[in-house]
Amino acid sequence: MSERETLGSRLGFIMLSVGCAVGLGNVWRFPYITGKYGGGMFVLLYLLFLVLIGFPLLVAELSVGRGGRANLVGSVQKLAPESTRKYWQIPFKAVFTGNFILMIYYTVVSGWLLAYVGYYLTGAISHCREATEISAVFAQLTASPWESSIFMLSSVAVGAFVCSCGLRNGVEKSAKFLMALLFVLLLILAIYAVTLPGAAEGLKFYLMPDWTKFSQNIGETVYAAMGQAFFTLSIGVGSIAIFGSYVDKQRSLPGESVAIISVDTLVALLAGVIIFPCCFSFGVNPGAGPGLIFVSLPNVFAQMPGGRFWGALFFLFLSIAALTTVIAVFENLIAFLMDQMKFSRRKASAIVCAAVALFSLPCVFGFNLWSAIQPMGKGSTILDLEDFIVSQNLLPLGATALALFCSWQYGWGWKNFSGEANTGKGLKFPEGLRWYFRYLLPLLVLTVMFFGYKQFFK
Ligand code: ALA
Repeated sequence: MSERETLGSRLGFIMLSVGCAVGLGNVWRFPYITGKYGGGMFVLLYLLFLVLIGFPLLVAELSVGRGGRANLVGSVQKLAPESTRKYWQIPFKAVFTGNFILMIYYTVVSGWLLAYVGYYLTGAISHCREATEISAVFAQLTASPWESSIFMLSSVAVGAFVCSCGLRNGVEKSAKFLMALLFVLLLILAIYAVTLPGAAEGLKFYLMPDWTKFSQNIGETVYAAMGQAFFTLSIGVGSIAIFGSYVDKQRSLPGESVAIISVDTLVALLAGVIIFPCCFSFGVNPGAGPGLIFVSLPNVFAQMPGGRFWGALFFLFLSIAALTTVIAVFENLIAFLMDQMKFSRRKASAIVCAAVALFSLPCVFGFNLWSAIQPMGKGSTILDLEDFIVSQNLLPLGATALALFCSWQYGWGWKNFSGEANTGKGLKFPEGLRWYFRYLLPLLVLTVMFFGYKQFFK
């Protein structure tokens, strides 16, 4: 049997994990949810959930990956005691499907971003001045099954191609290059945004907690903040676990997790620093929901001097963020087929490419041919259902299973888990966290999930 691949450097590991974490969650979901829930208070809650839930669970995912040297499912098979192995496989196999479901709508939205890069580069959108013309561009794109499918296929092709080139030569190299480019674009855009006239108002909205708005909507805001903490790290379905399986034991995993979460959070916060000053400076509503980047922001670029250039740069930045996640999650799916079915990398890449492309079509059609299907209520689309399955269900359920697996003697057990997590130089997990993992963490996740559900169906 051929030797399992490993990453070439620590930088490669951090950049890949950050690339997996940094994505639409940071640059699309975070700003629009922040806008919707009134700014600063939501940001504070989000940061709190990152510490309370994101950090311990990221350490758990990476440790399971590094301990088992396989994808999440394969690692659990290796690490669980023999007597309970078959029981643990059930929840972990179920939540692992979250990687696939995530990709069958993520690649569609990533495709729209690629389309916008093209629209700005060719000038197809930059001549639009009126808000109605601008929203028509997005409406036309989503209404066209062909156009939307072609762009979706482009993002699928990028993910599959990069992964098929190998772990070090494709996935790791591309992550380092794309993340470096992303940081440069992020800095240029952030500096430009904060120097716009009226930027301070936007920053105030973004960063000052609004107690009145928060008190009207506490349950929903708390739930949204938790969901965002999960989504941004893709915690629970094992997206990042795979990178733990490729890394050596020189560094402790709590230390590496702090680095990954810090960079991920920095990117999300800076995305807000770009978006809110722009909205306030040009009088565009920042609470516009999912259409914020596709409909509201193009209005900003339409009024901005050099808007075509800034628009192209902005959508390039968003596309890179999305594509690094596509590459990382594709790697996860491909590694699953390689670990579990012993497929070659090429064969696994081809299968993942074909399957994601095919199953992304319902999401594409949900905006046109199948728009009559409104699974989450009036006006909703297939994308909403898929996002609901992943974000509100599989991520928190997987996280709960992970917390129990790492702290119960019927699972991997605290000693084994903390031993793996703490191996290497750097920050260590304190012993006392065992109780937190075993009782508080699952309780916290399930309680917030329960209230979120209640709110959701009300
Ligand atoms: N972690 C990915 C994101 O934030 C899913 O977009």
